[in-house]
Amino acid sequence: MSGKTVWITGASSGLGLHTAAALRRDGWKVIAGARSFREEEGADGIVRLPLDVTDGESVRAFCRRAAEEGLPDALVQCAGMLVLGSCEETETEEFRRVMDTNFLGMVRMNRQVLPLMRQRGGGKIVMFSSINGLLGIPFQGAYTASKHAIEGYAECLSLEGQPFGIQVMLVEPGDHRSGSDKYRPHAAAMTEKSPYAAAYKSATDRIHRDETGGSDPDRLGRIVARTLDRKRIPLRKRVASADQHLAVWVHRFLGARVNRWVLRCYYIRKKPVKPE
Ligand SMILES: NC(=O)c1ccc[n+]([C@@H]2O[C@H](COP(=O)([O-])OP(=O)(O)OC[C@H]3O[C@@H](n4cnc5c(N)ncnc54)[C@H](OP(=O)(O)O)[C@@H]3O)[C@@H](O)[C@H]2O)c1
Repeated sequence: MSGKTVWITGASSGLGLHTAAALRRDGWKVIAGARSFREEEGADGIVRLPLDVTDGESVRAFCRRAAEEGLPDALVQCAGMLVLGSCEETETEEFRRVMDTNFLGMVRMNRQVLPLMRQRGGGKIVMFSSINGLLGIPFQGAYTASKHAIEGYAECLSLEGQPFGIQVMLVEPGDHRSGSDKYRPHAAAMTEKSPYAAAYKSATDRIHRDETGGSDPDRLGRIVARTLDRKRIPLRKRVASADQHLAVWVHRFLGARVNRWVLRCYYIRKKPVKPE
């Protein structure tokens, strides 16, 4: 039993839900946040509090209330969403919503939690990135940008936090069969009239297939919980299938041209429709 306290965001569904459950099973006191939560302590022993990571006041209220339950030995950030759409047609506002939730949401949480950890002489901060934090795939421009932002930011944070005993870990999941379509809306412009319509359909069908047939979210939760229990945690923890590990390897070692060819073959089978 760990006997330590963890605060976790985005714990109402998907990987956050499974990670919260795994941490609880491992003996952590778990204080979980999500927009759909009303304040309660469930029969599972998890304390649930409302939290909207895009709203500074909600973040502060969550942290105040969570601190009354227990100061964080660890913060795990799973809250996330994506908007599917072409880079050309996704509205700036749609980009902003994704960045605000995925990236700035973590910045807001960290700015509250870092002083608490610093004063206590240390802590662990876990941020959910993605394979998309390492490489881009078509029609996930906003999401990929947000996850790349998290990757760079985490490297800076880990350097700054080290003298204070604060460790940082990026979790880089491949496809897991956990995500809900509710958090994956299509950009408003992605209609049949889009010049990208055929390629978009091919890519989003593939993305959907990969997610529904993806890895076991409970296993990921157990891996995160087990890793967090270690004295020293790695900066990056990738939890992905063999072909997704291979995609990262191709991206890193075989150059842009080969990478683009592989990813286009995989996601986009249809040629773009010529304008009339
Ligand atoms: N599933 C995958 O295959 C996969 C792959 C790579 C990376 N990831 C990453 O893993 C994390 C979880 O993804 P998922 O697909 O498993 O989960 P999901 O089912 O998409 O759930 C998203 C979670 O984020 C919460 N959330 C969304 N907006 C929020 C906000 N403004 N404030 C607070 N909470 C918010 C949602 O709760 P409420 O609606 O109740 O607020 C929900 O609990 C994300 O960061 C995602 O990018 C997932």
